[in-house]
Amino acid sequence: MNRQWLYAKPPTGRIGVDTFQWRETAIPAPRAGEVLVRTRMLSLDPANRAWMMGKTYRDALEPGQVMSGFAIGEVVDSTVAGFAKGDLVEGDWGWQEYAALPAARLTRRTLEAPLELLVGPLSVTGLTAYFGLLEVGRPKPGDTVLVSAAAGAVGTMVGQIAKLAGCRVVGTAGGQDKCDWLTRDLGFDAAVDYKAGGVRRALAAACPGGIDVYFDNTGGAVLEAALSLMNLRGRIVCCGNVSQYDVDKPAPGPMAVPGLVVTKRLRLEGFIVMDFYDRRAEAEARLARWVSEGRIKAVVDVVEGLEKAPEALIGLFAGRNRGKMAVRV
Ligand SMILES: NC(=O)c1ccc[n+]([C@@H]2O[C@H](COP(=O)([O-])OP(=O)(O)OC[C@H]3O[C@@H](n4cnc5c(N)ncnc54)[C@H](OP(=O)(O)O)[C@@H]3O)[C@@H](O)[C@H]2O)c1
Repeated sequence: MNRQWLYAKPPTGRIGVDTFQWRETAIPAPRAGEVLVRTRMLSLDPANRAWMMGKTYRDALEPGQVMSGFAIGEVVDSTVAGFAKGDLVEGDWGWQEYAALPAARLTRRTLEAPLELLVGPLSVTGLTAYFGLLEVGRPKPGDTVLVSAAAGAVGTMVGQIAKLAGCRVVGTAGGQDKCDWLTRDLGFDAAVDYKAGGVRRALAAACPGGIDVYFDNTGGAVLEAALSLMNLRGRIVCCGNVSQYDVDKPAPGPMAVPGLVVTKRLRLEGFIVMDFYDRRAEAEARLARWVSEGRIKAVVDVVEGLEKAPEALIGLFAGRNRGKMAVRV
């Protein structure tokens, strides 16, 4: 049988277990031009929730469809030259054990690394941190780099890459435990618990020389505080808006836009990681080298079992993860 999670109905406010519905159905047979894959790991991403809000950089989710999500798996049957049984592939085929899909929607993975790294730090997550920070943020040695959701998948990578680039690195995260972990284990210079209140004051103390690059994963209160602390000609990397995904109605943007953007000559630039995929191989090789040399810790938080996927996504919004949250199927 093919075990699946369907996207059952749009949430009102926060997602819950009733946002999803379990289904067992026959394993599909691949048609001409298709490949049958068996899922090994699912990547859990805040974007999974954002796709429920309407059209983004991709179509909105429709109730009744298999819940979308990026995954890594192995080919079990193929009608297409270039895809053989046992090949490792990645793609967005969603929360299910098996999927038959056109070869054009699959990418073969040949990098030798554990699956939990291939689903995050050496894939979308790592690439997002790498290109977002280095190409959009363009940090210089000695710069102060602030990153929000710093203890998460992208944030842990951004902070460590910024250290390799010779920057002073400050993160925001929910709770003192996460903050202590960032400075003790991941080499951050300072970390601020945004849930403790007084986030602007705490950030001002943690960034006495102001902020040169803010890597924004969250939007919301941290963006508002960061804007007022940015240095002249600072860069804000608009990567995501996780504080506004699991809500009924996103809050309006900060008051300081455009006022402070003008007076401080800031550059706010959004990006989607796929924009840089023509340089993917080069970036992955570099990330893999940093990880194997121990210069970057690739932090993964693996939940066991497809049946746990909804709980895991709910947990992501409650901040239960450290590093990349993935589900082993
Ligand atoms: N532009 C792109 O191409 C691209 C690609 C991938 C990801 N992204 C974006 O990157 C960001 C991080 O994604 P990720 O995969 O690395 O997820 P993640 O950081 O591993 O997980 C989400 C984290 O967000 C924090 N969070 C949850 N609710 C929050 C709130 N209301 N305010 C502030 N923080 C909150 C939680 O940590 P705390 O305990 O610290 O609250 C949680 O651990 C997201 O905005 C995502 O959409 C963008």
